[in-house]
Amino acid sequence: MISVVKKRHLQLHGAPIRLPNSLPQIRVQAGCQCLKALEFFREDYVGTPPCIRIRPAGRKNRIALPPAFAHNPPMLARVLSAAVNGIEAFPVEVEVNCGWGDTMIIIVGLPDAAVKESRDRVTTALTNSGFRFPMGRCTINLAPADVKKEGPSFDLPIAVGMLAASDQLQSDELDNFIMVGELALTGAVRPVKGVLPIAWRARAEGRAGVLVPPENAAEAAVVEGLKVIPVANLREAVGFLEGEIKIEPTQVDLSKIFDQSYDEEFDMAEVKGQESVKRALEIAAAGGHNALLIGPPGTGKSMLAKRLTTILPPLTLEEALETTKIHSIVGLLKPGQALVTRRPFRSPHHTASDAGLLGGNVNPTPGEISLAHHGVLFLDELPEFKRAVLETMRQPLEEGRVTISRAAGTMTFPSEFMLVAAMNPTPDGKMPGESRSSPREIQNYLGRISGPLLDRIDLHVEVPQVKFREISSERTGEDSAAIRERVVRARKIQQARFAHKRTITCNARMGPRELKSYCALEEATKELLKFAMTDLNLSARAYDRILKVARTIADLAGAEKITSDHISEAIQYRSLDRQLWT
Ligand SMILES: Nc1ncnc2c1ncn2[C@@H]1O[C@H](COP(=O)(O)OP(=O)(O)OP(=O)(O)O)[C@@H](O)[C@H]1O
Ligand SMILES: [Mg+2]
Repeated sequence: MISVVKKRHLQLHGAPIRLPNSLPQIRVQAGCQCLKALEFFREDYVGTPPCIRIRPAGRKNRIALPPAFAHNPPMLARVLSAAVNGIEAFPVEVEVNCGWGDTMIIIVGLPDAAVKESRDRVTTALTNSGFRFPMGRCTINLAPADVKKEGPSFDLPIAVGMLAASDQLQSDELDNFIMVGELALTGAVRPVKGVLPIAWRARAEGRAGVLVPPENAAEAAVVEGLKVIPVANLREAVGFLEGEIKIEPTQVDLSKIFDQSYDEEFDMAEVKGQESVKRALEIAAAGGHNALLIGPPGTGKSMLAKRLTTILPPLTLEEALETTKIHSIVGLLKPGQALVTRRPFRSPHHTASDAGLLGGNVNPTPGEISLAHHGVLFLDELPEFKRAVLETMRQPLEEGRVTISRAAGTMTFPSEFMLVAAMNPTPDGKMPGESRSSPREIQNYLGRISGPLLDRIDLHVEVPQVKFREISSERTGEDSAAIRERVVRARKIQQARFAHKRTITCNARMGPRELKSYCALEEATKELLKFAMTDLNLSARAYDRILKVARTIADLAGAEKITSDHISEAIQYRSLDRQLWT
C-alpha cells in the first residue's frame, strides 16, 4: 500500500517514493482527491500510473490504489543476454517492466519476426511451467535498441525477466549470468546458434557464467574460466538462479578432445591408381595451393577432392577455435560438440548464390567460403557455377577474408581456405582430341571460368581414366597418414621460412618480394624455364605459379634450392595454359 508520509513523500511497501517538484499537486475532486500523471521514482522505475484516489483517513492521507495496481506494483527487471553480430557477440540487456494497464506484452528494441513471436512462446512456456501469467502491461526492451535482434535466443532471458518483474523470481544472480535459449511451449530450453562467441563475450564482460541450452553447453565450455550452466527447462533455470537447485557447470577437457585420435571416414588408399593426381594433391596440401582437377566423368575427381582434408596437417587449437566459432554462428555444431577438430570440407552446389557462397542475408552471416576457413572449399563442376559468383571470390581468395556490405552494416568474416575445383575438359566430358564438341563449343565451355579466378589456381591436374588393371587390383596405395607426414614436414619448413611474416603462412601466399628471395633460380634452371615458357606457349601468369609450386616441390624433397627437376615437375601442372586455353 502507498501511504502519504509527508506532503510530497509517498511510501510503497514501506520504501519511500520521491515525487518530482514539477508534477501537479494532488488534485481535489468532489468527494475524493485525485493524483493524475503522478510519476514514481523508485530507484529504477519511471512510469505513469493511472489515476490514484486519495481519501482522508484519520490524520494522515491514505491512497487507495486501483485493484490492478495493488496486485501488480510496477517492477522492472534486468536480465543479461547477448547476440551475435558478424563473428563477435555483443551484450544485450533484456529489460522487463510489468505494471499498470491492460494486460499485454510489448517487445521493443528492433526485434525481428522470430523475436516478436517469442511473446507467444514465452507466455505459454511460463504457464506450462506452473508460473503465473503476469497481469498488466508488460514492456520488454532489448537494449541497445538500435541494433537489430534476430532469432529465438532471447526466449529464456525474456521469460526470466518476466518472472523477476512479476515477483515470481528473486535472485541476486541476474547480473552474474548471461543467458540464451529458445523455449519450447512446454518450457524446455532448445539449442540456439552462436553460443561460443556469446560465451567468449560473457568472459570478456567479466560475468561469472552463462545459462545455456544443454546441447550448446560443450561449445560454451571451450571458454575457460566461465561457469557454463546447462538448463534443460525454465523451471531449472529459475531454480538455479534462486539457489534452490545446484547444477554442475559443464566442463570440457580441450586438450583431450583435441588429441583424440579419430578414424577418418575416407582415406587416400581407397582411390585406385591416379598416382599422379595424388602426388599433385600432396603438393597442393604441402604448399596451400589451390588446385583444379580436370578429367572425364567417373575418374574419381570428387573422390580425390573429398580426401584432401585427410592429408592436410591437423588443425592447431587456435585454428580449431576460429573454425568452431564460425560453425557455431551458423548453427552447424552437433548437439554436445565442443570443437571442430577436423579441417572442414565444404562442397556447395553450383546453383549456390553469392550470398550462400560468400555470406550475406539481411544481417550478414558467414557463407560457404567462411565455413571452409582453415579447410577445403570444393567446387565440383566448376564451369556450371555462375560466372558472376565465381568472380566475387577473387578478393577472399587473395586476402583470406571476405567483407560483405549490407544495409545492416559491413561485416568481415575470415575465409582462409584451399580451393579445389573439378571439371570436365569439354562439354561432353571427353578429352579435347576425342570430343565431338566443336572447338567453338569447347572454348565457350572453358570461357565460363573467369581468367582472374583461374589465375589464382596454381595447379591444373589432369585426372585420366583409370585402367582396368588398376581399378581391379587388390593392391592399395599409400594411406593418408603417410602422405600427411610428408605434408607436415614441408609445412614446418615454410613456417620457419615465414616466421617473421604476419600474413604469409605457406608458399601459395608468397608475393613478388618473397618469390624473389626464396625462389631464386640457377642459370641452367632459368634456361629450362625460359625454354618451357616459349616452347610450350605458357602464359606470363603461369610463370609465378610455376615458381611457387616448384618451391613447394623442393620443400617436400627437403631441398634448399629449386632445381630443374622441381621446375620440370611444376611445369606439368599448367596443362590448361598449354592445351585448353590457347
Ligand atoms: N580411382 C578410383 N579408384 C576407386 N574407385 C573409383 C576411382 N575412380 C572412380 N571410382 C568410382 O567411381 C565413382 C565415381 O567417381 P567420382 O564421383 O569421384 O568421379 P568424378 O570424376 O567426380 O566424375 P564426374 O565428372 O561425373 O563428377 C566413385 O564413387 C568410385 O566408386
Ligand atoms: Mg564428380
